[in-house]
Amino acid sequence: MKILAIESSCDETAAAVVENGRKVLSSVVASQVEEHKLYGGVVPEIASRRHAEAIVPVVRQALDDADVILKDIDAIAVTYAPGLIGALLVGVNFAKGLSLSTGIPLVPTHHLRSHIASNYISNQELKPPFLCLVVSGGHSHIVMVEDYTKMKIIGRTRDDAAGEAFDKAARTMGMSYPGGIELDRVAEGGNPLAFKLPRPVVHDAPYDFSFSGLKTAVINLIHNSAQKGVEINKADVCASFRYAVVDCLTTNFLRAAKDLNVNKLVIAGGVSANSLLRKTLADECARLGCEFYMPDKSLCGDNAAMVGSQGYYEFISGNVADTDLNAFATMSIE
Ligand code: KG4
Ligand code: ZN
Repeated sequence: MKILAIESSCDETAAAVVENGRKVLSSVVASQVEEHKLYGGVVPEIASRRHAEAIVPVVRQALDDADVILKDIDAIAVTYAPGLIGALLVGVNFAKGLSLSTGIPLVPTHHLRSHIASNYISNQELKPPFLCLVVSGGHSHIVMVEDYTKMKIIGRTRDDAAGEAFDKAARTMGMSYPGGIELDRVAEGGNPLAFKLPRPVVHDAPYDFSFSGLKTAVINLIHNSAQKGVEINKADVCASFRYAVVDCLTTNFLRAAKDLNVNKLVIAGGVSANSLLRKTLADECARLGCEFYMPDKSLCGDNAAMVGSQGYYEFISGNVADTDLNAFATMSIE
């Protein structure tokens, strides 16, 4: 079964053709990041306009690369939530039009579920149930994936997402948007114990996260040093901050796994590309005798291949939409 997948929730216009949820026949990603860099973050209005320009050529390219025509496609999966509403609407309306004109079924697909599904492509043997740490620019969740389309939130951030905290810290150090990737790279050359940063906890919610205090602490550290004219080693700041964020994420994730008695752990989302997070969890899971899975780095960020994977499982479980499908800026993964 071949799924044509469409993704436009943030600043990447993407399309892919995926077979049986696991085999990527094509994957095209048109990124707008260079334009948003000028403004230090995603400008929603610009994002919507660029999606509208890119969607037709990107979908056409995905079909060509897979060497298929629309007649070969069994379903059209589209990201309909969560994300920037104007951006989502471009993909959703395009998919609705295509579905209406061809009679191909339309499958609404949740963006965070798709991030989890990137693991089904990178790890062909992976099957639910498992516990997943979903960490992106907008979300930080611990999710019990009971089945391909059945999820339960175990923990979540109370304020900033991990990716957001990485990006804000990076911006304070003069790195361009999205700074998480560069901060991770610079951290490799620094000492993670150089600066003592807090590990905020949420009382009575042992699996929840809070990153805003940690973000403020590192921003204050940078500003205070600048005011005093004291030069601080950027690599040390990056390494200490990265260590603190990864420490918070892994502590709660491993605690949840232990308490729930789950020994299959998975990570997903843009921040799952973080080198320290990948290494720490791989080492800890090996020590604890748990199975550990992560997506290839190329599938951590937004793409449509992951939408084609999740879309397949949504479709076979009967999740099909009508042409009254709408997009939603927020929606629970459950
Ligand atoms: O999943 P994603 O591509 O978009 C959303 O759905 O939000 O995640 C993007 C986020 C950005 O905040 C970006 O800085 C972060 O993922 N990110 C990283 C790394 N690569 C991407 N954060 C830390 N270390 C990385 N290597
Ligand atoms: Zn994403």
